[in-house]
Amino acid sequence: MQEIFVEYKTLVVFLHVISAVVWVGGMVSMGYAAHPSFIEIESPAKRLERISHALKRLFTIVLPFVIILIITAIIMIKGYGLSYTKYSTLSHAKEAIWSLMFINLIVMIKRRNRADKMLNEGNFAGAKSQLELIGKFMVPLNILLGITAIFIGSYFSSSF
Ligand code: HEM
Repeated sequence: MQEIFVEYKTLVVFLHVISAVVWVGGMVSMGYAAHPSFIEIESPAKRLERISHALKRLFTIVLPFVIILIITAIIMIKGYGLSYTKYSTLSHAKEAIWSLMFINLIVMIKRRNRADKMLNEGNFAGAKSQLELIGKFMVPLNILLGITAIFIGSYFSSSF
């Protein structure tokens, strides 16, 4: 594994970084550019429908990158032998952050799917309550966790 990692190190790190860019950057643009703009739409039905549709597109785009991120992380754990170095605690911290971000993402996907169903049934209040938590709490939480993971990654890359 270590020889393969040395051979493809640039590609592995590139895929890791680009995945973080798409995942975290996608949530920042949704949360702080698209969402405030959608909020201006007056009709509640249209507003909630647009938010739900944009979230569906965002989640579809980020999901493959979330998987690439963990695959490249595992390759780096093995390739650098991180578990046997002084960086093992921080490496476990990044694994925990990825797991929390992943669970949060799955819950967001489930809430959005539920909201979509409610919108089709004309239950706007229900759909609003499903989507509200995503915008107010779950997206900002994942951005914060992502930034923490990126900071630890920067520490790693400046230490190796
Ligand atoms: C799953 C556990 C993870 C492990 C074991 C891990 C491991 C690493 C390692 C070893 C590096 C340094 C690569 C090098 O310079 O050769 C790195 C960099 C990086 N990681 Fe992670 N990572 C994990 C999760 C994440 C997550 C969840 C994110 C963000 C969502 C992330 C974002 C980054 C970024 C942006 C860099 C590049 C930093 C720089 O080059 O300055 N990582 N990671």
